[in-house]
Amino acid sequence: MTAKEYKDIIDAALSKYFVSSGLPYDGLLESMRYSLTAGGKRIRPMLVLEFCRISGGDINKALPVACAIEMLHTYSLIHDDLPCMDNDDLRRGRPTNHVVYGECTAVLAGDALQAEAFGTIARSELPAEARSKCVEILADAVGSDGMCAGQFLDMVGESKHLTEAELDEINSRKTGALLIAACRMGVAAAGGSDKLMDTAAVYGACVGAAFQIRDDILDVISTSEQLGKPVGSDMQEHKNTYMALLGEEKCMQMVEKLTESAKTALTGVFGDADFLCDLADSMVSRKN
Ligand code: IPE
Ligand code: IPE
Ligand code: MG
Ligand code: MG
Ligand code: MG
Repeated sequence: MTAKEYKDIIDAALSKYFVSSGLPYDGLLESMRYSLTAGGKRIRPMLVLEFCRISGGDINKALPVACAIEMLHTYSLIHDDLPCMDNDDLRRGRPTNHVVYGECTAVLAGDALQAEAFGTIARSELPAEARSKCVEILADAVGSDGMCAGQFLDMVGESKHLTEAELDEINSRKTGALLIAACRMGVAAAGGSDKLMDTAAVYGACVGAAFQIRDDILDVISTSEQLGKPVGSDMQEHKNTYMALLGEEKCMQMVEKLTESAKTALTGVFGDADFLCDLADSMVSRKN
């Protein structure tokens, strides 16, 4: 499967959720769909499906899990863009959710997407053990020790001078945790062994770290047309980023090193790792 083929499958599956049907709260569903179907690279659901496949699982059965992680991710983006957080007005090439639907609806759309993510896993046709493992992995990744903790630290760190270690702590939680979860949930959906699960986590941690460093670089060197979100947002919000701390050259060296480590982690454990190696490599050159 190519990345484009995966993306098409994921986009088609996502388009079936939250369809308005004359309900009094259609406005909420519309705002959820607005952000969920706006595009996006779909990296997390791709990781779910590919790790499921190379762990010997059925990607059709894992598709709801893939959709679930994208719902969760989309919720995090809607809330991340709110005026009280990063205060951004462009996302995935469109005005942000709160700009179109207002802050109250945007908060509720995020809340509902989060709940629906867990419900979507619970209702899937995977064996009960796989479903509960995926729910547990996702909850751990995004809760009080995971993504929300990272977002909290990101916020309280604004305008302070943080060390590289403190920045690693923020980014491993706000971004790394969900990327690791995507890889592990793929293995869990296939009922894979602890060894596969641990290897998937190492790959996810390296790709996750590289992903956020590249995100920080792009916030400085890209254009909003190319990114589909504003550039210069980090500086405006007085964020601590690798770019601000270390500069582009050092950042790119880190991304390259992490990419190599991600690929090395797979060697000898997963036989057919070409897709995941290419995905890791894309961290070095990705433009959006
Ligand atoms: C953006 O994630 C938020 C970060 C964790 C840096 P993506 O870059 O995956 O955003 P989409 O899903 O492609 O829009
Ligand atoms: C956000 O990091 C990570 C999330 C948990 C959403 P950023 O704030 O850097 O993400 P972008 O640049 O707005 O996509
Ligand atoms: Mg942010
Ligand atoms: Mg942001
Ligand atoms: Mg960013």
